[in-house]
Amino acid sequence: MTRGVSRRGFLGLTGAAVALGAAGFAGRDLLRPGQPGLVLPSQAPLPGRFEIQLPVPPVLRPTSSDGTTDYYDVVQQVADLEILPGLRTEAWTYGGSFPGPTIVSRSGRRAAVRHRNELPRPTVVHLHGGHTPAESDGYPMDLVMPADRRDYTYPMEQRAATLWYHDHQHGFTGPAVWRGLAGFHLVHDDAEDALHLPAGDRDIPLMITDRSFAADGGFHYPLVDPSMAEHGVQDRYMDGVLGDVVLVNGAPWPALDVARARYRLRFLNASNARRYRLELDPQPSDGGALVQVGSDGGLLARPITHDAIDVAPGERFDVVVDFARFAPGTRVRLLNRLGEGRTTEVMCFDVSSARVDEDAQVPERLSSVEPLDLSRATTTRTFRFQLGEHHGWTINGEPYRPGRSLARPRLGDIEVWRFITDVHHPVHVHLDPFQVVSRNNRGPGPYDAGWKDTVDVRPAGGVEVAVRFTDYAGAFMLHCHNLEHEDMAMMADFVTE
Ligand code: C2O
Ligand code: CU
Ligand code: CU
Repeated sequence: MTRGVSRRGFLGLTGAAVALGAAGFAGRDLLRPGQPGLVLPSQAPLPGRFEIQLPVPPVLRPTSSDGTTDYYDVVQQVADLEILPGLRTEAWTYGGSFPGPTIVSRSGRRAAVRHRNELPRPTVVHLHGGHTPAESDGYPMDLVMPADRRDYTYPMEQRAATLWYHDHQHGFTGPAVWRGLAGFHLVHDDAEDALHLPAGDRDIPLMITDRSFAADGGFHYPLVDPSMAEHGVQDRYMDGVLGDVVLVNGAPWPALDVARARYRLRFLNASNARRYRLELDPQPSDGGALVQVGSDGGLLARPITHDAIDVAPGERFDVVVDFARFAPGTRVRLLNRLGEGRTTEVMCFDVSSARVDEDAQVPERLSSVEPLDLSRATTTRTFRFQLGEHHGWTINGEPYRPGRSLARPRLGDIEVWRFITDVHHPVHVHLDPFQVVSRNNRGPGPYDAGWKDTVDVRPAGGVEVAVRFTDYAGAFMLHCHNLEHEDMAMMADFVTE
């Protein structure tokens, strides 16, 4: 079968090319409003909405600490979880839970995490958003074999931010994350503390994933041959696997009781392929329910008020919601305006009459975000994310091959990277965050503010970012964070020097 994409060649950043590119895909069902991928229906009986209390993943305690470093142990293990009431789901977990335990670091204090692999296949751990030397960054061939272990060292020389860790093995990241290999890693610093944002049990990480379940409750994923775990996803799911159950922190459509107070909600889209448009319902009478204070790379310079937020796989949005704006007894649903059927709902917040003495606030100035000076940019590089000529997904026409690098940026230089797409691709860059400079030749979009490490590039889109790599020389990756695209080779090395 001939796929129109591959012959189209380079899609420029002009409006005409963008329009043309979009027309070329109209027949492929890829331009449904905002959603790539194919839904895999569940076979298990599914629970109703808002019946289960929201779980918050446990915080992992260090096994020891010294003047510079906190040491952690994580055992990667199979665990039977009760995700759907009354059924067992065999999961691959970090430490027996899904999500894995949350690691909490202080900026500048090193975290040394020893991962022991008791799973039936090799794994790789990547700290997404981490400013990490190559040897600990989770290169897809740096496998931890079953029954073996590896020490990952994270210097944490980076600002406060919501990071997450997940599997990154070559060609099998989609099924491994789907089965449960994902957790939060939060970084705090003094500048953030001084702001008095909502904290403690009013600072809640929310990992949103979609999943499908087999009749017996097991995770359902369309492998080529489920008895041979070596094999990847079936070709007809190459646009992405979409589940029909929305989990937040591993629970289907959960509910959370909230006081009439401000909460900091750290949204992470850890889904393989699904995008969400998150919106509260009802909205407070004067709108603007979601006050964004941070993005992938930590706090924004100033808060941005949204009615809805689009979140692509890999992205984080750190938001403050003031539930005092709702009457006691209100059930505030978190909707997904890009969903269909059951996936139009995510979770709910039940507003109690309890009042709390609040000292939390959202200051008008949150942090200083130094704009990367484009006039000093040394290089512009273009990366085309598109379907391959023959099979799978490519960057600049090349399917991923470990060890073949597409760029050699110099440490300390400011560069402009242009990402150009055929269909939807959330583009992620390792090692350092970037700043979105333009989208389809216009200014950045409403969700592009601050330091980003993943940017949602829409169909036939072009996004330019300014990036500056620092500190660590070595081989790192850029890739599409649609995990089926990633597994089907939409990844490339770049080597910093
Ligand atoms: Cu979250 Cu290279 O990935
Ligand atoms: Cu990453
Ligand atoms: Cu992609």
